[in-house]
Amino acid sequence: MSLSKERKLELLNECKVCKCTKCPELVENRTNTVLGEGNPQADLVFLGEAPGRDEDKEGRPFVGRAGKLLDNVLSYYGWDRTDVYICNILKCRPPGNRNPSPEEAANCRPYLDKQLEIVSPKWIVWLGAVAAQNLLGTETPIGKMRGEVYEYKGAKVIFTYHPAYLLRNPD
Ligand code: URA
Repeated sequence: MSLSKERKLELLNECKVCKCTKCPELVENRTNTVLGEGNPQADLVFLGEAPGRDEDKEGRPFVGRAGKLLDNVLSYYGWDRTDVYICNILKCRPPGNRNPSPEEAANCRPYLDKQLEIVSPKWIVWLGAVAAQNLLGTETPIGKMRGEVYEYKGAKVIFTYHPAYLLRNPD
């Protein structure tokens, strides 16, 4: 009998992510790991960088100010969180919300890849420059990558500004 996507994600969380000790600084400072949420059957995944303070507290992605903006973007298209799947490159909060280091992103990459394999979306909206640079090993500014379609793990990828950046630069 094959397991549902929901159950596979639960097992990934319980057996691997929650017990992960690969990044000592993150482990020491985390309250909760944050795997992701939404609809694992969805064709569309929104991928952020890492949990912030609110996400670390609640164990859910994008629940702070950036999350409210993401909710607004979703509702502009007539969607809510149950229509898409939302996750981050890092499953633990970097202290002080600093950018994830390349090492931390590499440590967490197997969890992200497994998660994407389970959800197997058609499209990934990759939020933010750090995320983009981590994936492609590039320094290309996000503004230049917008509008291009990339590919990752069988899904088409488009990059756009991170909601936290848009909050700081509303124009
Ligand atoms: N920023 C992110 O990249 N992810 C979150 O979950 C929250 C803020």
